[in-house]
Amino acid sequence: MAAVKPAERLKQLRTELAHHNRQYYTLDAPEVSDATYDGLMNELLKLEAEHPELVTPDSPSQRVGGAVLEKFEKVTHRQQMLSLGNVFDEAEFAEFDDRVKKALNLETVTYTCEPKMDGLAIELVFEKGRFVQGSTRGDGTIGEDVTENLKTIKNLPLTLEGKNLPALLEVRGEVFIRTADFKRMNQQLLERGEEAFVNPRNSAAGSLRQLDSKMTASRPLSIYLYEVGVVEGKTFTSHMEKLDWLEKVGLPVNPRRAVAKGLAGVMKEYEALLADRHGLPYEIDGLVVKVDGTDERNRLGQVSKTPRWAIAFKFPPEEMEAQVEEIVVQVGRTGAITPVANLKPVFVGGVTVSRATLHNEQELRRKDVRAGDWVFVRRAGDVIPEIVKVITSKRTGQEKEFVFPTACPICQSPVKKEEDGAIARCTGKHCPAKLAGRLRHFATRTAMDIDGLGDKLCEAMVETGMVKTVVGLYSLTVKTLSGLERMGEKSAKNLVDAIERSKKTTLRRFIYALGIPEVGEATAKALADHFRDMKPLMDATIESLQAVKDVGPEMGKAIHGYFEDADNRAMVEALLAAGVKPEPPEAVAAGGTFTGKTVVITGTLTMPRQQAQEEIERRGGKVSGSVSKKTDFLVAGEEAGSKLTKAKELGVKILTEAEFQALLK
Ligand code: IVH
Repeated sequence: MAAVKPAERLKQLRTELAHHNRQYYTLDAPEVSDATYDGLMNELLKLEAEHPELVTPDSPSQRVGGAVLEKFEKVTHRQQMLSLGNVFDEAEFAEFDDRVKKALNLETVTYTCEPKMDGLAIELVFEKGRFVQGSTRGDGTIGEDVTENLKTIKNLPLTLEGKNLPALLEVRGEVFIRTADFKRMNQQLLERGEEAFVNPRNSAAGSLRQLDSKMTASRPLSIYLYEVGVVEGKTFTSHMEKLDWLEKVGLPVNPRRAVAKGLAGVMKEYEALLADRHGLPYEIDGLVVKVDGTDERNRLGQVSKTPRWAIAFKFPPEEMEAQVEEIVVQVGRTGAITPVANLKPVFVGGVTVSRATLHNEQELRRKDVRAGDWVFVRRAGDVIPEIVKVITSKRTGQEKEFVFPTACPICQSPVKKEEDGAIARCTGKHCPAKLAGRLRHFATRTAMDIDGLGDKLCEAMVETGMVKTVVGLYSLTVKTLSGLERMGEKSAKNLVDAIERSKKTTLRRFIYALGIPEVGEATAKALADHFRDMKPLMDATIESLQAVKDVGPEMGKAIHGYFEDADNRAMVEALLAAGVKPEPPEAVAAGGTFTGKTVVITGTLTMPRQQAQEEIERRGGKVSGSVSKKTDFLVAGEEAGSKLTKAKELGVKILTEAEFQALLK
């Protein structure tokens, strides 16, 4: 075999590596194993080391970072990099739409809708398909040259695919960090004793502005392209056509993009994206709406630095500055003492927030939050508001450090720290705060499902001594309940009825409702399926508990310990004597409709989610929260979003609610 010339072999290797890179990072469809990829990369590195004169600027070896810069060079953008105007609600968007309609003399405008990536804007220059320079937006006219740093971004191809590539192509896009990558990175930083980043956006911006590109290479940056500046010898009739072309030449473009007709069409996209916001693998802060037609765009033009043909339709903010008024502690049902910051109310994550959890003493110390501090508060999705970081530059010196209590603030019993030091617990056996927490947990929707028994009511029942254990709920009457403040006869009657109804329940709900340490809904189900009755569960040894699916030594010990306690046993017996009837699980039919199948439910169904899940499980299926290659069915209700898209991409069998219902029959 004739030896391949090094230059020739290098070219092959670069093409091959670029291809696998794209399959892996952009298409999420690797064709070779990591080891094969590493093998090719090593061969390339070795050849380049032997022939340094053959190293090209677009070689994948250049992704690892290199020389440390003194400063960033300035780059003048050939075409100004614009920014977007903002609108915050439908009325404001309608005004934008009206302006566009009027200027274009159109009844309905065709728009493209894209997620507004929360990262930082960059520009890339490709000459004859080769990446030659990249820069930050800067002031829109002059930015900074961050070429070396951009080369380290794994999903950015350094050479484009296809023939007849433009001599010059300027593309714009966003550098960002995926949520999962961000979490992993922050965890690693903390483990090394370094400071964590506040959010993905800040860390993406910080990482791209490193003078040492090796530093940038160590950060998990991603990129999506969404605009074209100057392009030679190529025209597009619409924005969507442009995005499709960018994708065709191998550039990463967000697959979530849609054409929308007029105000109604855009509102639909806005609502759908907002609903999917927390299911997306990256953070967004709105929807970018652009006039689709190139002609229309040109006719609209721009005002100073913002185009008249595009707008950012913003979502409610998820991170805001707020001031801590005081720090207090809460005592939960397990006695865990949680420090909580009371805040001056701020609007964040779509609601007004006036308190944020500090998790535990360690967290409180690590973040060093003090009464009077200004902090970043974050509330994403339905999670509890959190303090991300103190804004130390705003400190005046008047802030007060919090002294963690050594006695429970509710019952004054001593506080004991757990072995690993993270969780402090109240040791009081009859702490009213614990009891109120246990009542609330017992009543929760996925446990005994007692409608109307909320936090305040539980606290009031404990305070007045009306209820001493959860068993007491079952002897409440309309008359006794009416003794509580603000409890009308009608609500009292409703509550008594709800408590009565809760007696008919399932074993898994009942086990979960007991609040056994370590036992969540999934374990409660596994225990119910395995033991099928309370008696054998209560008498189970640690060993026999460990025979249950997913029960490990720790959990086995916790469950066993719970039932060793005479008070707990007495409570279970009293509940059963009071008329609570936990039904054992129905035997799973051997050839059940969903036997061995993994099902994901998405969108709004007419039946409650919980019920749909139980129906599937009763037929031998497993319900999972996310779509993957292992998913067998996706049950898609109304307004299904990203999960439906993903299922379609992966070719997962999709069931409408009607089809699902038919299978249940
Ligand atoms: S288009 C003239 N599309 O939002 C159009 N921008 O102020 C220029 N952004 O600086 C931007 N996602 O950093 C566009 N899909 C998207 C975007 C997007 C995020 C950022 C970009 C820009 C800012 C607007």
